[in-house]
Amino acid sequence: MRVFSGVQPSGDMHIGNYLGAFKQFVKLQYEADCVYCVVDMHSITLPKDPAELRQYILDIAAWYIACGLDTKGSILFAQSDVGAHAELAWVLTCSSYTGELSRMTQFKAKGKGAESVPAGIFTYPVLMAADILVYDTDVVPVGEDQRQHIELARDLAIRVNNRFGGGVFVVPEGRYVTEGARIMALDDPTVKMSKSAENEYSRISLLDDEGKIRKALSRATTDSDGEIRYDEEKKPGVSNLLNIYSVFSGKSIEELEKQYAGQGYGTFKNDLADLTIETLTPLREKYLEIRHSDELVGILLDGAERANAIAEKVLARVYDKFGLGVRKR
Ligand code: TYM
Repeated sequence: MRVFSGVQPSGDMHIGNYLGAFKQFVKLQYEADCVYCVVDMHSITLPKDPAELRQYILDIAAWYIACGLDTKGSILFAQSDVGAHAELAWVLTCSSYTGELSRMTQFKAKGKGAESVPAGIFTYPVLMAADILVYDTDVVPVGEDQRQHIELARDLAIRVNNRFGGGVFVVPEGRYVTEGARIMALDDPTVKMSKSAENEYSRISLLDDEGKIRKALSRATTDSDGEIRYDEEKKPGVSNLLNIYSVFSGKSIEELEKQYAGQGYGTFKNDLADLTIETLTPLREKYLEIRHSDELVGILLDGAERANAIAEKVLARVYDKFGLGVRKR
């Protein structure tokens, strides 16, 4: 089984990324052949400071490793270091329709009805499909927010396969973890926790110190009935905190509801802060160690070489089917 997933380079990784992505990636490395990527080309859909972007690529690579990825077994690399992603993206763009791309909720949210939107934001999901399909990926572990993009990758794979009578692409499946699949903002549990939200107390970043973690959790929105019970509709704030607690502790939501029956939000939030600090401290220490080591770039270059060996074969198959080029690949 081949697994592929990617994370955009940004300096501010938060617990949503950890629980929804990194933690799952690391678990899968023992069951499958894993290819993980820092998707730097996705991040230039909006202009980025070049020097900052290079640093962010290394930041994310270090987080993968700090969260437990073994890069001898699994492949870790930067997307732009393997040319096949962009090449396949063009072929897939020519198999996509403007109608389906304009229905993508992330495009609609970012475009907000503007007359003209950067074209990269529009074609972003096609590049994402290329990332996945170029490795003959079977399974893509992602958070719920990526579901529509995974569906597009599947549609494109099936469409191309149908056109050529099958055998071009492996049709991938999304794996949406139930716990941690959608960590919501602490100040507004109706929207997902995000690195771009203005209020820094809306998230817990993986580099936050103890004081910030305690403050963010003690400020987290709850409700006035004082009961620690999971009910996404009526108690979205408490449900989000229970979800976070559950994935950090490995205890089920029911167990936690029992443990905290009759207790106030104060104790619950305080215990969750202790647990969060306990979990994030070793990750942060490992991160700082690897981030400043000389090995990091070498790990990514080695990963790119191994990724390229897989991707070139798939691309050769696709070019052959489409009748592209005369060079023997
Ligand atoms: P990105 O960089 O926004 O997020 C990386 C991963 O973290 C998950 N995630 C969350 N999970 C739970 N709760 C949250 N609040 C939360 N916020 C983020 C995301 O679901 C994702 O799994 N388009 C992708 C990157 C990408 C990709 C790919 C992913 C590019 N190509 C190919 C998989 C396969 C993105 O922007 O993720």
